[in-house]
Amino acid sequence: MDALLAELTAIAGPEHVLTDPDLVAGYTTDWTRRFSGSARCVIRPAGTGEVAAVLLACARHGAPVVPQGGNTGLVGGGVPGALGGGGAVVLSARRLRRLDPVDTLSGQVTAGAGITIAELRTHAARAGLEYGVDLAARDSATVGGTIATNAGGIQTIRYGPTRAQLLGLEAVLADGSVISRLGGIQADNTGYDLTQLLAGSEGTLGVITAARLRLWPAEPPTLTVLAGVPGIQAAAALAAEIRSLLPGLRAAEYFEAPGLALVRAHTGLPAPMGREYPAYLLADAAASDHDTERIVVLAQLQEAAVAMDGQARAGLWAYRERHTESISAAGIPHKLDVALPAARLAGFRAALEEVMAKLDARAIMFGHIGVGNLHVNVLGPGPDDDRADAAVLRLAAEHGGTISAEHGIGRAKAGLLHLSRSAAEIAAMRAIKHALDPQGLLNPGVLFAP
Ligand code: FAD
Ligand code: MLT
Ligand code: ZN
Repeated sequence: MDALLAELTAIAGPEHVLTDPDLVAGYTTDWTRRFSGSARCVIRPAGTGEVAAVLLACARHGAPVVPQGGNTGLVGGGVPGALGGGGAVVLSARRLRRLDPVDTLSGQVTAGAGITIAELRTHAARAGLEYGVDLAARDSATVGGTIATNAGGIQTIRYGPTRAQLLGLEAVLADGSVISRLGGIQADNTGYDLTQLLAGSEGTLGVITAARLRLWPAEPPTLTVLAGVPGIQAAAALAAEIRSLLPGLRAAEYFEAPGLALVRAHTGLPAPMGREYPAYLLADAAASDHDTERIVVLAQLQEAAVAMDGQARAGLWAYRERHTESISAAGIPHKLDVALPAARLAGFRAALEEVMAKLDARAIMFGHIGVGNLHVNVLGPGPDDDRADAAVLRLAAEHGGTISAEHGIGRAKAGLLHLSRSAAEIAAMRAIKHALDPQGLLNPGVLFAP
């Protein structure tokens, strides 16, 4: 056993340092199967002290560290790179299982990085409160991973992304030092906001071990509408109309006929409506009775399915939430997650078709249209063929959009960061990275191209 492995084993215990290739494999290939690499070992520390000891040992030995949560990330950021990653230690945060009682006085909770979003939401619901982030990966995605990627999800339109839920965090930096801000003080104006700096840092600045999170008054959805529409512009317009009618709009999601066909083929679900449409808008609202009447009238004008009880609502949501697995069943997708100004969605959508035709590829589109976020899933090109990635992301930038709305940059888009960030911004980000991680050991190859 090499010296680092011996030290790591002493820190976490032999059962939590994995070297058996069969056990390590689940931590070195990402959810999409597009990204994989090799690791020296996987370590699963149980507390902040162990994480600090791990990072200190890795720093002494100059070993790169790849932080990992639920491994549901879609940009290759949570697994080691294919090149030069043979010596990386994968640090799984899943055993950081602290979950404090909900503080109902402040409407806050402290949760460990390894708690899943489903667990956190259930915990909050038992106290009559709600955690603002929800996503289809809720059963595996973790508090730490969602902070590190600043995850969005289906409720971003209502509560904002993960960083908007974040009141403070605890993290271990590359040198093993611990920064901790879990007091939950909302009015705190004491210099650089390190909590927000780590949100969206994708494991490149520190390992998040716990977070202090804002909770919201529970506001269960009462109404789900699935409307057939002629295309993306109509979907965006309908979402805006519903939003103006319903202050309690909780989700405004989009998908198209080709994606629905893949979902139906993969899941065996029946057609959602009497006839087929080019595109669909799915909206969720916490509506009063009066609002409900108005929305039903609006829905009738649009030929829509309306569901008001839990089971029927879940039935409509399945058409949207099962897109990711259904697309993956059809091939290894290039998952490109962009956001555009509402007025430019249709122009982007049309130009995308031309790009796909040139590349002999097809794009399955869906996303969180209420916040302008489109998931462009390109099927056809091989996993290592980056031409479609570059073309789609360039197109998004040309249409005034961003190359990452919610999934992050990861390894997948590191070489294209300049499409959304200026040279001065990238230089400032690199300076921050160098100041906190001078040896470049935390997630090398993620966010910044090597
Ligand atoms: P991982 O995948 O393990 O890691 C993601 C990144 O965070 C990596 O860069 C990793 O190094 C870093 N990281 C993980 N844990 C830590 C830690 N403790 N400290 C520091 N860095 C860490 N994303 C959305 O934003 N919105 C969605 O609606 C959405 N829906 C999804 C649906 C499905 C079916 C799937 C498979 C994925 C979806 N995702 C979505 C993507 C994914 O769930 C998110 O990116 C999520 O935030 C990843 O969390 P994780 O715990 O799985 O992190
Ligand atoms: C979603 O909105 O379902 C996710 O971001 C997952 C995906 O893009 O496939
Ligand atoms: Zn999404």
